[in-house]
Amino acid sequence: MDEKKVMLSGIQPSGDLTLGSYLGAIKNWAERAESFDCYYFMADMHSITVRQDPAALRRRTLEQLAQYIACGLDPEKNTLFIQSHVHQHAELGWVLNCYTMFGELSRMTQFKDKSAKNKDNINGGLFTYPALMAADILLYQPDYVPVGEDQKQHCELTRDVAQRFNGIYGDVFKVPEPYIPKVGARIMSLSDPLSKMSKSDKDPAGSIYLMEKPEDIQRKFKRAVTDSDTENCVRYDPVNKPGVANLMAIYAAVTGKSFDEIEAEFAGQGYGKFKPAVGEAVVETLRPIREEASRIMSDKAYLESVYRAGAERASYVAEKTLRKVYKKIGFVAR
Ligand code: TYM
Repeated sequence: MDEKKVMLSGIQPSGDLTLGSYLGAIKNWAERAESFDCYYFMADMHSITVRQDPAALRRRTLEQLAQYIACGLDPEKNTLFIQSHVHQHAELGWVLNCYTMFGELSRMTQFKDKSAKNKDNINGGLFTYPALMAADILLYQPDYVPVGEDQKQHCELTRDVAQRFNGIYGDVFKVPEPYIPKVGARIMSLSDPLSKMSKSDKDPAGSIYLMEKPEDIQRKFKRAVTDSDTENCVRYDPVNKPGVANLMAIYAAVTGKSFDEIEAEFAGQGYGKFKPAVGEAVVETLRPIREEASRIMSDKAYLESVYRAGAERASYVAEKTLRKVYKKIGFVAR
């Protein structure tokens, strides 16, 4: 039998999905949905490492599922599930906590960033987050983990933990590769091109949301920060022109054009033409996704059938790995 390679990834429902989440992750998932055996989930357990409003968390988890489907992830061909519905994540997460070092966890950039932003709630979960993420991944024995650039460090830690575990107990886990897109792996804020576009950003001017209205998207692109130089020229130079480089990366990712082609297209035209053109391309990319996601959101019974079936399939696969792990480490079989 010709076995398909396995892909797995997740997104925290900690804020409304942005163009960053789409270009860095989901777009890549959807393009490969046919040729891989895919598992995609809503990482609700991760999102409570930062305090959430319960009603908003519930709404965003379901909306995220509707958006996954609207982005092209067919639930018949992909396993789509809610992390907290598959208890094996918490169980393997605990085990892997005991194989992940304090020093390793202390070096994680996401922990440093988030603890700086949430000084009054630096909880244990925020610190041990990467051990749960390693469990999310290793339970499904994936070949690839398609993520944006910012998750590379967590994927590398997952590899280290898997190799450490395999070194003690034999080949239990497949050691997966992160799969990072060539363009779109790090979309920056439109209002501050030196910081990442983030769904938990308090300033909505810098982020484009998947469900946002076309006129709001256009307005944000027209106001996007370009450069302080007076050159007014569309040229790819991420060091000296980070704002323009970011807009070019967005344009490249949604149109498939190369940076050379984009420079040629806007030669002699300046930012006044370029910024609305990027806005328009983004509006047209997101329009069908927004419309389809709203339609799916109104069908709660369908969404429920998708996440129930997804959890069942995921749990079946996850249980096989968990049993193997429990046996290896010496737990008495249930
Ligand atoms: P999260 O929820 O922060 O982001 C979800 C995915 O979107 C990518 N991403 C971006 N890519 C490009 N530009 C941006 N501005 C941008 N913002 C976000 C992220 O790299 C990510 O791929 N820890 C994960 C969630 C997670 C997970 C997992 C991922 C939990 N368990 C297991 C993979 C496998 C996170 O916080 O992603």
